[in-house]
Amino acid sequence: MSSNTTLTVDNKAVELAVKEGAIGPSVIDISKLYAQTGMFTYDPGFTSTASCESKITYIDGDKGVLLYRGYPIDQLAEHGDFLETCYLLLYGELPTAAQKADFDYRVTRHTMVHDQMNRFFTGFRRDAHPMAIMVACVGALSAFYHDSTDISDPQQRMIASMRMIAKMPTLAAMAYKYSIGQPFVYPQNDLDYTSNFLRMCFAVPCEDYKVNPVLARALDRIFILHADHEQNASTSTVRLAGSSGANPFACIAAGIACLWGPAHGGANEAALKMLEEIGTPDRIPEFIARAKDKNDPFRLMGFGHRVYKNYDPRARIMQKTTHEVLSELGIKDDPLLDVAMELEQIALKDEYFIEKKLYPNIDFYSGITLKAMGFPTSMFTVLFALARTVGWIAQWSEMIEDPSQRIGRPRQLYTGPAERDYVTVAQRG
Ligand code: CMC
Repeated sequence: MSSNTTLTVDNKAVELAVKEGAIGPSVIDISKLYAQTGMFTYDPGFTSTASCESKITYIDGDKGVLLYRGYPIDQLAEHGDFLETCYLLLYGELPTAAQKADFDYRVTRHTMVHDQMNRFFTGFRRDAHPMAIMVACVGALSAFYHDSTDISDPQQRMIASMRMIAKMPTLAAMAYKYSIGQPFVYPQNDLDYTSNFLRMCFAVPCEDYKVNPVLARALDRIFILHADHEQNASTSTVRLAGSSGANPFACIAAGIACLWGPAHGGANEAALKMLEEIGTPDRIPEFIARAKDKNDPFRLMGFGHRVYKNYDPRARIMQKTTHEVLSELGIKDDPLLDVAMELEQIALKDEYFIEKKLYPNIDFYSGITLKAMGFPTSMFTVLFALARTVGWIAQWSEMIEDPSQRIGRPRQLYTGPAERDYVTVAQRG
């Protein structure tokens, strides 16, 4: 359904269409505003701007709701598995048993990477951040899989999508193994997606490795929680890169680069480092005071969100998962968890955080869980990228299949010098 609204600019009334979504706020269509008024809109950080139409993910930030294709995140995390969630995000419906088996098989068939990819890894210093390796190696996939870079061919788009979902765990595990000087472990395709990833990370050729099903299930749930989050910074990056017609591997590499920042996916690494720095609950007030100090750039990492002005629904599930993992591993007293829980309680009662509606986000507890599983902090954002790949791909495909899609090209408010004449060096005072 659509209606109209009137905007008055310089005493001239302009009719603008109002479009309604299935749920959530309506949008004012301003695509003709410049032609009608000679003015642009101004919205740095896109706080009031919808950049596209999408049927994939819905967030109600005030209520703390997250839906993938209409299904609440807690139900998917409780009852579903990650590959089923991938299917849902890509195709819009939960798979039947036969569709699920076929999808799992198709993903599994693509888990190996071209053997020459190994040489990419050896080009990096051992202490290279694995996110740096991921940006490079995922971008480099386009140099290996020429048969899936033609974006006008639906079959090639589908194969590229399968390849990325399947190869991301392999590449992520290789980045980890390289950093610790251990040999790469090839995928073992009779294992499920997440167990396979754990094995590629933690098995060594000289010993048997048995996947702990509790940890595999917990990690699978973490992947579900991270799978998509509508038009966040990295997804918007993927869409923008894709809007020029760039190949899908290059677009996902762009998304990984954006995700790396501490305000986005890098926050899980930053949150754990912050908890380590705080160290003991008695130092929490000092850090809370710093977070509130306008002259101190320090922020409570893992707190606050552009969209959620309520408890991040993913954080609740993550907190439960953290307890399950620690209990499975027999970790009764984790000082970091003590600090995290105390910090959460103090912040939730603090006027500053209440007034600004700053609640724990998904990254607050994920670091503790991943650390307990044996992942170093530098791998945290890599795991986020692994899980978010399907969201990026679903959003990229939706954009490519949208007949109204055009290259993304924002405008600006220019505040630099007006036109002026060139002055030779000799004439410059
Ligand atoms: N600690 C202290 N103050 C904060 C925090 C924080 N974590 N987050 C926001 N604020 C304050 C901020 O100083 C500002 O105050 P004022 O209005 O007085 O200037 C106000 O709250 C609004 O903040 P903002 O930066 O304008 O909000 P934003 O929507 O642009 O930023 C955010 C959202 C997530 C980048 C920000 O909350 C933040 O930096 N959080 C810490 C990093 C983090 O945990 N990121 C993970 C996000 S969830 C996973 C993901 O999306 O990747």
